[in-house]
Amino acid sequence: MSTILEKLDPKSVPQRKLSSGAEIPAVGLGTFGSDRFTADQIAEAVLGAIEAGYRHIDCAAVYANQKEIGESLQKAMRMGVKREELWITSKLWNNKHAEEDVIPTCKQTLKDLQLDYLDLYLVHWPFPNHHGVGVDVNSRDPHAVPYIHENYMKTWRQMEKLVEMGLVRHIGTSNMTMPKLNLLLRDAKIKPVANEMELHPHFQQPEFFKYCIDNQIAPIGFSPIGSPTRPDRDKTPDDTVDIEDPVIVKIAQRLNVHPAVVCVKWAVQRGQIPIPFSIRPNEYFTNLKAATAEPLTDEEMREIAGADKKNRLIKGQVFLWEAAKDWHDLWDEDGKIAS
Ligand SMILES: NC(=O)c1ccc[n+]([C@@H]2O[C@H](COP(=O)([O-])OP(=O)(O)OC[C@H]3O[C@@H](n4cnc5c(N)ncnc54)[C@H](OP(=O)(O)O)[C@@H]3O)[C@@H](O)[C@H]2O)c1
Repeated sequence: MSTILEKLDPKSVPQRKLSSGAEIPAVGLGTFGSDRFTADQIAEAVLGAIEAGYRHIDCAAVYANQKEIGESLQKAMRMGVKREELWITSKLWNNKHAEEDVIPTCKQTLKDLQLDYLDLYLVHWPFPNHHGVGVDVNSRDPHAVPYIHENYMKTWRQMEKLVEMGLVRHIGTSNMTMPKLNLLLRDAKIKPVANEMELHPHFQQPEFFKYCIDNQIAPIGFSPIGSPTRPDRDKTPDDTVDIEDPVIVKIAQRLNVHPAVVCVKWAVQRGQIPIPFSIRPNEYFTNLKAATAEPLTDEEMREIAGADKKNRLIKGQVFLWEAAKDWHDLWDEDGKIAS
């Protein structure tokens, strides 16, 4: 049992309405501990976060901790939290895009998480390219390929089947781009309700953010604090640090909170769904509380909008295919899908 000192009534946390009409808590707990924390530490944080008032947990098979998190979810339910109060997201990893793999992989995730259904299942990346755990950014999958829409749709059809089978309530995408989503929206029988994408003050993606809102795709924002303690292998010399930004620091001083909390507040107030990670009770509690009190002023929101550095942190280099020039090819920055 964790030692949670502070708690929030989950009902006080704002909800976002999805295109289906379902509601998702406006802040979730990230569970990617990278190589810094064990699966047990993260599972303990999940239980502690639920006790503190979180009802939305962002999981993925590739984070290699779903079994442990499943135990925490069971404990939370034994303590009286109802399944329907929880919003559990998971993701299909890149090496399971083949048609025959999608349904068994989701069933394995359900088994690991000890659940009958997921609230949201995402295709983690739009490429079937994968890599070993903790590899260097220069490592490449020799079988890596660019985005092939026909293949993505084969995977998506299986995702749709999961909804039809009742194993998954909603499906969505992650690490997509506008041109790729245009094709998916054109061809999907069941449209994505959400896209998980990198969003923090130094990487605001205003055009893509608006595109998602306009198309009723909820933007779930990963690395909302700018992932300040990510491993060195995921850092490049040009990267900027959101929590050291003078605008963020100034607002943090006014509110007497850590700059991380300002990042979460900004995210919620802008209308995305941040999923900050932390295993520390004081941090995950203040991140949740950020959504409930002391809004930023209009002037502060404008100042943060002006602080964007267009600094993508999760560049995805390890997913590049042989003919790709560099990581920019993964993100279709000129509006065309790189092949
Ligand atoms: N779909 C995708 O491809 C994708 C990609 C990346 C991430 N994600 C998801 O997004 C989640 C969050 O992203 P992230 O883990 O990269 O980064 P993040 O949430 O931006 O940053 C997490 C780090 O910020 C620090 N922090 C958190 N709250 C704080 C607070 N209140 N005060 C001070 N420091 C605080 C913690 O550092 P310490 O640990 O040192 O305390 C923590 O490790 C992941 O866990 C994962 O679930 C998804």
